[in-house]
Amino acid sequence: MTKLSTKLATLGRTSAAKVHLVNPPITRGSTILFDNYEDFKQSHHNPYPSLDYARRGTSIIREVEDVICQLEEGIYTRVTPSGMSAISTASLALCAAGDHILVTDHAYGPARDFYENTLPQFGIEVDFYPPTIGGEISRYFKENTRFVHVESPGSFTFDLQDIPAIAKAAHANNVLVLADGSWASPILMQTLKLGADVAVQSLTKYMSGHSDVMYGAITAGNEEVRDKIHQMYTHMGMCTSPDDAYLVLRGLRTVELRLKQQQENALQVVNYLKTQDAVDYISCPMDPDHPQHTLWQRDFNGCSALFSFVLKKDYTEEKIAKFVDTLDIFHLGHCWGAYESLIYPDRPKRAFDCWSKDRIVIRLSIGLEDPQDLIQDLEKGFKAL
Ligand SMILES: Cc1ncc(COP(=O)(O)O)c(C=O)c1O
Repeated sequence: MTKLSTKLATLGRTSAAKVHLVNPPITRGSTILFDNYEDFKQSHHNPYPSLDYARRGTSIIREVEDVICQLEEGIYTRVTPSGMSAISTASLALCAAGDHILVTDHAYGPARDFYENTLPQFGIEVDFYPPTIGGEISRYFKENTRFVHVESPGSFTFDLQDIPAIAKAAHANNVLVLADGSWASPILMQTLKLGADVAVQSLTKYMSGHSDVMYGAITAGNEEVRDKIHQMYTHMGMCTSPDDAYLVLRGLRTVELRLKQQQENALQVVNYLKTQDAVDYISCPMDPDHPQHTLWQRDFNGCSALFSFVLKKDYTEEKIAKFVDTLDIFHLGHCWGAYESLIYPDRPKRAFDCWSKDRIVIRLSIGLEDPQDLIQDLEKGFKAL
């Protein structure tokens, strides 16, 4: 079987060969021309036409979809204008009025907000569940539960979920599993292999990796969900730019290498934070002190460079602001997963008790800078406290 590094270097280049280039051409367009009447008619009858109207994709879009599908080991992938639209489109595809769905309490904030405030407008009942509940999730199932949203590790608090246990319980009750695997990307964890039915990704993050594109993907693991996703994707008019597709393809050629280096850099930063008196708790799955470290060892091929910590309780928000404003290399910004280091303090919303309760959680996304420079930068911040 082809190894990951070879897949990353070779997949998504079918249309490049046709024009004698290494990379696929950026295919812009609206109209797609058919060779003859028969092909035109056939495309009407094919539920999954390869190319028929550019809103549903041009050749370069199909290239990205093919790479993601093979990396996720799914059966069908469609790309979306962002990770958020991948989540909203996939979830709308899987439920209908009268259904009940379960969402992990540590889901990505805007996704959590979508589930809590938008889906109920369409007659869908939404409950949150404690992220680390594992197979005990059955306790939350109702007659009309349609799917469970998992995200492992979860946003900001980075608690890990036992996806195989959740999927086993869900499938035994005829419930589907939708997984947001953006933290790990399909390079470090394949949610479909762990039992999810649908995998969503923010390709904005590690997969593209250069802070210059917004992109997402939905991958179906079986035919039942493929048909639902295809329908919703088509009806929503989801459509992405071929230029963005090109950037994603270019970024993912180096994702494995970047992730390896970023993990190494992050480990050095975690070990440094452990020496700081002001730090109360660090949540990073590769840290042996992480409460679900063994789950990380079981389900992941590595650790991405996104983790969080909290300062001891006597450090006020003003002090945290001073800490953040003193830093030069770490910039303050919403995203993560690219080559530059970022810091983001927040009070994550939770329905259940959690170590982050009433705390400002400081999230770090470690980039490709020299880790000693990053540590020196943080050192300045600690001195300013
Ligand atoms: C875990 C997770 N999932 C999904 C998203 C949404 O991705 P995008 O920013 O591409 O819409 C994010 C964004 O930060 C995220 O952190």
